[in-house]
Amino acid sequence: MGSEAAVATSNDAGANASLYDRLGRRSGIEGIVEVIWSNHTSNPTIKQRYVNSDPVKVKRLVTEMCCAGFGGPETYSGQEMKAAHKGMNINAEEFVAACDDVLDALEKCNVGKRERDEILAILYSLKSDVVHL
Ligand code: HEM
Repeated sequence: MGSEAAVATSNDAGANASLYDRLGRRSGIEGIVEVIWSNHTSNPTIKQRYVNSDPVKVKRLVTEMCCAGFGGPETYSGQEMKAAHKGMNINAEEFVAACDDVLDALEKCNVGKRERDEILAILYSLKSDVVHL
């Protein structure tokens, strides 16, 4: 009574909280990564890329990378982005398809516009570490 309500975000973390906290920490990010994986593996533009992948391993590494990169305490144990995608010769259309899958997953998980915009900027900044290698 009488106290100001905290600034509400989609996940009830304060407006100054890290992206990690605003996404619901590790469990929130794991849920988003599940939807990203489901989108990638049903997207006709890129699904073929993942036919020989171990889903548990790839989802764990993507989760770790997001947690570490968004301000969480996790350590990323995978390869750096250039090494991970070297030799795949991923093209720009595939890159856009993967980004669209991520944005779609964020919307399905009710992630707010501010967080979606931040993540899109991070993804796009990685383009030269993923495409034409
Ligand atoms: C900014 C965009 C991207 C990010 C942040 C990202 C992130 C990652 C991460 C963290 C891994 C695991 C690295 C490891 O194995 O140590 C990985 C592997 C992989 N990525 Fe990406 N990726 C991106 C874009 C793409 C695109 C556009 C494609 C192709 C359409 C792609 C296809 C793959 C494949 C096939 C693997 C290997 C999976 C395996 O080892 O079985 N990635 N990526």
